[in-house]
Amino acid sequence: MSRKFRLGILGSGKGSNLAAIAGACEAGQVPAEVAIVLSDVADAGILARAKERGIHARFIAPGKFRTKLDDEAERAYIAALQQAQVDWIALAGFMRILKGDFLRAFAPRVVNIHPALLPSFPGLEAWKQALDYGVKVTGCTVHLVDQGIDTGPIIAQQIVQVLDGDTPAKLHERIQEAEQELYPKVIAALLRGEILVQGRKTLWKR
Ligand code: GAR
Repeated sequence: MSRKFRLGILGSGKGSNLAAIAGACEAGQVPAEVAIVLSDVADAGILARAKERGIHARFIAPGKFRTKLDDEAERAYIAALQQAQVDWIALAGFMRILKGDFLRAFAPRVVNIHPALLPSFPGLEAWKQALDYGVKVTGCTVHLVDQGIDTGPIIAQQIVQVLDGDTPAKLHERIQEAEQELYPKVIAALLRGEILVQGRKTLWKR
């Protein structure tokens, strides 16, 4: 039997991506189990959704900054993930930038999902940025995490049409459906070693 990997998932939101990943693990579509879920938001839905599924889930206070973890918090996140013996980390709506020490501990095995077609619309509320800009297509991107904001090598993207009469909420909902389809598939491919990374370029070995 092939080995089951251990995933650590970080999120700040309601946890729809966590649910999709955990569901795909349970269904045997991703050769992994979610070993731990961490959040910087004490009452985040992602923690409740993890606990409902029997996954170990913890709030770890982010410290004094708004957009990143402070040094003490960063050490606590690293320690919790190392203690849980994770092989890969999937960011699922984690709204803080991860810096040097975190990435030195885990990169290149840190992956993120972003709700736009990068390099367009990095940062916050990307679906709203796309709608305000007036683009006709947007979507979601799975990429490896580096020290920039949504700048790491792109692994896969899925397109979502912008429809007449879209509101930010409606558009985000359709992007999230695409995310829930794409993210588990990409994580499975990464774990199976099916994705080759050469600098900024990634190649699917199929
Ligand atoms: C997702 O749409 C994800 O792409 C986005 O947060 C949402 C989390 O939803 N992430 C970012 O905007 C990161 N820049 P979820 O908690 O339901 O998975």
